[in-house]
Amino acid sequence: MTESLLALAERYYLPIYRPRRIVLERGQGSRVWDSQGREYVDFAAGIAVNALGHAHPALRAALVEQAGRLWHTSNVFVSEPPLRLAEELVEASRFARRVFLCNSGAEANEAAIKLARRWATAQGRPPERRGILTFRGSFHGRTLAAVTATAQPKYHEGYEPLPPGFHYADFNDIASAEAMLASGEICAVLVEPVQGEGGVMPAREAFLHELRALCDRFDALLMFDEIQCGMGRTGALFACHGYQVTPDVVTLAKALGGGFPIGAMLVGEKAAEAMQFGAHGTTFGGNPLAAAVARAALRELAAPALLANVARQSQALRDGLARLDAELGVFAGIRGRGLMLGAPLRPEHAGQAASILDHAAAHGLLLLQAGPDVLRFVPALNIEDADIADGLDRLRSALHAWRSAR
Ligand SMILES: Cc1ncc(COP(=O)(O)O)c(C=O)c1O
Repeated sequence: MTESLLALAERYYLPIYRPRRIVLERGQGSRVWDSQGREYVDFAAGIAVNALGHAHPALRAALVEQAGRLWHTSNVFVSEPPLRLAEELVEASRFARRVFLCNSGAEANEAAIKLARRWATAQGRPPERRGILTFRGSFHGRTLAAVTATAQPKYHEGYEPLPPGFHYADFNDIASAEAMLASGEICAVLVEPVQGEGGVMPAREAFLHELRALCDRFDALLMFDEIQCGMGRTGALFACHGYQVTPDVVTLAKALGGGFPIGAMLVGEKAAEAMQFGAHGTTFGGNPLAAAVARAALRELAAPALLANVARQSQALRDGLARLDAELGVFAGIRGRGLMLGAPLRPEHAGQAASILDHAAAHGLLLLQAGPDVLRFVPALNIEDADIADGLDRLRSALHAWRSAR
């Protein structure tokens, strides 16, 4: 059965993914079972999406309840769930005035890029002064504009000509950002407070504070991509709260729907009126089913007890990884914030992350990498003590097996 299903993927999918050779069938909390009945501890959470684990009762109830009422209206009509969600996001954000709802992270960033351009246009800036500044190592999504914003050449190859007006600076290097802003070509800075795909690299606090100051000085929008690091993942509901920096725009997706596809762009005062009637749109964005689930997710993710769990389990995970390192000598450090942790491999183990992930899956642990040299830990934010302990035990067995196999 498993093999015949995987054969379907090989035959019918565009071969752009290389999934593990397991077929997941069912999940509960931070445990998942495959089609052969094998159990896994889930430290991957669908790439930081299932922030409340699998089959959370509040999300299930919201989905089922809304499924019996109204599935879709389009934005030609309104319904209550997305309106309430917009209100709740604005209030929870402590900075936003308006919200655009969409279906994914790339779409949220695409909207932010378009918003910045409209904002600059309204100020009378010519096209060559409507540039977007992003940072090396970033990841902003796969649409043509979002992938151009993604300052990693490997994602660009073969897609040229790329849209113009994107500029890159070094992450955590304020002089490099200042040089770009001083050119007068930049209308917005898009930055992940914690870079995810680029290796789980947190911004230094001073870097984000200085970026805020530079954006004010050069009249540019500061836009935070919190698609991976937002919604409680760093231990604060919004990563910008933890960093105590107020951006002009925040993009969200992933955990916002707890597994139901939804994205959002939140816009503060400065650019809240930049897009007017007809400036942008989407058929599915603000879909009532997605919005109903996101409202339930937001309520759970904003709970102080949940955020306290992030801090506690973050420490437990860090301690456990440090113990594994003391025993096995594999990691060059542990970095990240909250339950978004990265363990870069020591230079002698460069390129081994994929192999470790294979061993982890074989030992009942779903784990991610962030590039070839970094193990990435993004479990559910409500993960329990026993799941962390079991997951670490399984990782230990996996690392032993990996080392013997080398
Ligand atoms: C920081 C960040 N931005 C944007 C995206 C793109 O989101 P999506 O895959 O939903 O388009 C991702 C996805 O990994 C991400 O981590």
